[in-house]
Amino acid sequence: MTISDLDTIISKADTAKHARPLGGAGLGFRRELMSEMDKADLTGIDFFEVSPENWLNTNGQIGGQYYNKLRAYTEQYPFVCHGLSLSIGSTAPLDTALLHNIKDFMRTHDIGLYTEHLSWCSDQAGHLYDLLPIPCTEEAVHWVADRIKQAQDILGQQIGFENASYYFKPELYGITTQMSDSQFITAVAEESDCLLHLDVNNIYVNSQNFGFDAHKYLRQLPLERTCYLHVAGHHTENDGLIVDTHGNKVIDPVWSLLSDAYSLIIERTNKPANLLPTCLERDFNFPSINELINEVTHIRSLQFQADSVRTGIANDQDVAVCNHRTYAHDLIY
Ligand SMILES: [Fe+2]
Repeated sequence: MTISDLDTIISKADTAKHARPLGGAGLGFRRELMSEMDKADLTGIDFFEVSPENWLNTNGQIGGQYYNKLRAYTEQYPFVCHGLSLSIGSTAPLDTALLHNIKDFMRTHDIGLYTEHLSWCSDQAGHLYDLLPIPCTEEAVHWVADRIKQAQDILGQQIGFENASYYFKPELYGITTQMSDSQFITAVAEESDCLLHLDVNNIYVNSQNFGFDAHKYLRQLPLERTCYLHVAGHHTENDGLIVDTHGNKVIDPVWSLLSDAYSLIIERTNKPANLLPTCLERDFNFPSINELINEVTHIRSLQFQADSVRTGIANDQDVAVCNHRTYAHDLIY
């Protein structure tokens, strides 16, 4: 492939949603960004991620201007649903009403992928408003896998579950774990046949807070099941604690982890990196939309680099030019 080939492909590209299968690099769809997005050149963004809970009321409905805005974007771009409150690791009953609402939401907006967190955030008394780690025990593997199977049956499709960031370990509270965190994720994925939503920033945050090698940990995950990736910035407290805020730029060690993840997934699956949809999470402290687009473009350049190595066409000039091209469309079209 040459850059002129790429230009030809791009010039032929139909920007209608159905000519753009999910892949490449995306951005979290936030109300705070809407007015800027309406005026910006968004050709550098391949898809958007939406959290359905932010767009549904308790009846599972949305109306008014927000519905119309969201609808205008979902008609034009591929979207991914990333849930916040399923609480798959909870001992409270599975929220089947939420799942039915999400199913309707996905159908309404023609969204094919739904992911959630491999954690818990509620108990019998209600929501706790934080994502908490699940104890890595055999009992928990079976409990969570069973709930994932129920959820997947309701949705009629596999769900991607995200490796979460955490700030304490259940062992510190006297709970005896029976396997490592990565073994737990693997066991749950295998027993439930769910997919992996890989968040490289979460790995980095945990590795810094709990003192382990992030790249080594990455290799222990069931990467062949990866359906979706997250990359984000975080905040470092004065005492060194890293908090997964999604409120800053992505830092170099996290970009490096993302590159490593692409290489490993390609090695295990031979799937091109640009078919691994990767979303930049930014939830507050918003910079200009152009700064966010630059970060999204950097995701694409890392996908391009990984795919260039895969196909043996690594070339610095191509990588540089790729920063200004819709590379994600190349292998898709
Ligand atoms: Fe994430």
